[in-house]
Amino acid sequence: MKKLFVVLLVLTVAAGVFAAGPIVVGFAQCKADESDWRIANTKSMQASLSAANGYKMILADSNNDAAKQVADVQGFIDQEVDYIVIAAVNMDGWDTVLKNAKAAKIPVILVDRTINASPDLYTCWVGSDFKAEGVKATDWIAKRFGSNQVGIVNLQGQLGSSAQVGRSQALQDAVAKNKNWTLLAQQTGDWSTPESKDIMTSWIRQYGNKIGCVYAENDNMADGAIQALQEAGMKVGGKDGVAIISFDANKAYLQMTLKGTINVDVECNPLHGPRVQGIISNLQKGIQPSKTMYVDEAAFYYDTITQAIVDGRSY
Ligand code: AHR
Repeated sequence: MKKLFVVLLVLTVAAGVFAAGPIVVGFAQCKADESDWRIANTKSMQASLSAANGYKMILADSNNDAAKQVADVQGFIDQEVDYIVIAAVNMDGWDTVLKNAKAAKIPVILVDRTINASPDLYTCWVGSDFKAEGVKATDWIAKRFGSNQVGIVNLQGQLGSSAQVGRSQALQDAVAKNKNWTLLAQQTGDWSTPESKDIMTSWIRQYGNKIGCVYAENDNMADGAIQALQEAGMKVGGKDGVAIISFDANKAYLQMTLKGTINVDVECNPLHGPRVQGIISNLQKGIQPSKTMYVDEAAFYYDTITQAIVDGRSY
């Protein structure tokens, strides 16, 4: 009898193990290959939420289309995934789908960007303080130009994303405070090098030497601006060229900062995979994460960065 009980117990445990399967995570990404940052972010998520780690990650690439991304999330709910992770294209438009996720009892983890929705519609958020990133950049502009007049052009990220909203807001606030700063032009370059190069080329035609500073809201757009300025024969970066502000601090652009082509590159850390994995593994054990988790981030300056810093960059 005892022997039969042990056999039954072993069979039950074994059945449980085989039935458990991987943890299924639906990841609603903005656009997997949009920029150097986004590529590093996608890779980080894939590496952490891998089969080897016990996960099945379903990647939905919205191609930076906000409506498609909401539909992608609804698709995850319909598939009854275990967790939903969202890097939101746009801050708005989330209420209905998040209410559906809540009704289906699927935890939603926001990563990278924040959204405009009631906090009780999602489990937690982990990512960057985009306005604080912008303030690091504007503090540098204030030091560089002192009381001198400066004309600034702003290549914005995709409009309506929290990364754009926070970084643009920091610049708007600083322009309002510093009467010697003129915001000559502001337009979205949609995180893209070729689009930003075209926009910058037309600004150079329009404003020429009045442009003293480019505030580009990511590395890829800074690259487009730099190409346009160099092709127009204008001096870029360093002590006395058009000052270049960038965000993200991917390795290739830190190398450009070391060269002096970019004056300030404010870090935005894309390595969210291990953070999300940690959150899910805690939730599996019944441990609730903090609602809001900011990532520590630095800024790199052309006159203090070292080769060792560039070499130490993993993305
Ligand atoms: O949300 C992070 C921002 O989004 C990065 O700066 C940008 O490169 C990406 O698209």
